[in-house]
Amino acid sequence: MTKINKNFSNLGENYLFAEIARRVNEFKVKNPGRELIRLGIGDVTLPLAPVVVEAMKKGCDELGVKETFKGYPDYEGYLFLREAVAGYYKRFGVKIGTEEIFISDGAKSDAGNIVDLFAPDNRVLVTDPVYPVYVDTNILSGREIVYADSNEDNGFAAMPGQTPPPDLIYLCSPNNPTGTAYTFGQLKAWVDYALENKAVILYDAAYEAFIEDEGKYPRSIFAVDGARRCAIEFASLSKTAGFTGTRCGYTVIPLELEADGMRLRDLWYRRQSTKFNGVSYPVQCAAAAVFSDEGLSQIRENIAYYKENAAIISGTVKRLGWEYTGGVNSPYIWFKCPGNTGSWEFFDTLLNSAGVVGTPGEGFGKNGKGWFRFTAFGSREATASAMNLLDNLYRSDTVRQK
Ligand code: MLT
Repeated sequence: MTKINKNFSNLGENYLFAEIARRVNEFKVKNPGRELIRLGIGDVTLPLAPVVVEAMKKGCDELGVKETFKGYPDYEGYLFLREAVAGYYKRFGVKIGTEEIFISDGAKSDAGNIVDLFAPDNRVLVTDPVYPVYVDTNILSGREIVYADSNEDNGFAAMPGQTPPPDLIYLCSPNNPTGTAYTFGQLKAWVDYALENKAVILYDAAYEAFIEDEGKYPRSIFAVDGARRCAIEFASLSKTAGFTGTRCGYTVIPLELEADGMRLRDLWYRRQSTKFNGVSYPVQCAAAAVFSDEGLSQIRENIAYYKENAAIISGTVKRLGWEYTGGVNSPYIWFKCPGNTGSWEFFDTLLNSAGVVGTPGEGFGKNGKGWFRFTAFGSREATASAMNLLDNLYRSDTVRQK
């Protein structure tokens, strides 16, 4: 008789963004023709950069010619792309070998699949609020999860010191959902803690391209001394270069990183070659083009556009007198719902009164209760109209309070 993984019963009914999609679809059925503005899931809206599209087309053309046709790609990704990624890291002063880089279909898959490397009895630490993938994938594999609070008291930057210490530590900087980023000093404290306790840090750098002050906030955990002995880094072209639909990311595992006497880089190669057949050639060509001088300059324009959206959102939230974080080194603005409203209650109010979709903070953990997240990845028009609607809905409250 087939038995299912009983850990499924320990998950919430839906993945957070699937739950939001379900509620929005229900709303659409009840309100046909009603226009919605979506600032919920962090999905990009600008097209791929021209140099990236050209490279992808060229890759397709090569597949249509006998002499340049390619079958299965290398499990770890084509060398030309791994060299491009290594060159990208070099630009912000981090030396990574091509044999330490693994190309994949995105950071979400890698952050979820990495759990295959670790025994079920590892204790896992996540910061709360947290990107739900880290939690759900560990629930599915039956691991104990402990939470480090990120809240108003610590500026939404949880710090180490938990006892007993965890074996695995998930960090995300710039953070999803709070938009805060760890400074060099804060990240060094986590690295020291991990080294002291022989723990591995699983570091999600999916939003590194949004960091403005590189002197203060590292773009990679490997810019911090000691991290090569305790960290794995996930990164992605989804938010950096608009690849949410195109799919390409990479994971970096330093050669010297070991646990239980095993080299984690080798285990990951073994895992990937067993379960994953790589990213298609045209997509890898497109990804390599992102890291060219021209590609980087074109994607910077898109990032600047999203940052202007972020400034419009944070400007509105600030005018309304609501506490907020993020929006500078991050595409997310995380703010306190007005008048002690609950996150899901605020979600419903916004949806019903303004047709605006956001993400309830509570969906990211207990410290998200009463908080809310907007993404800056919408179009300028959508972002500006959503903020006008918000202003109209709540300005009178603000004036009354004064
Ligand atoms: C988010 O909105 O948090 C992200 O887009 C989700 C993801 O990257 O999977």
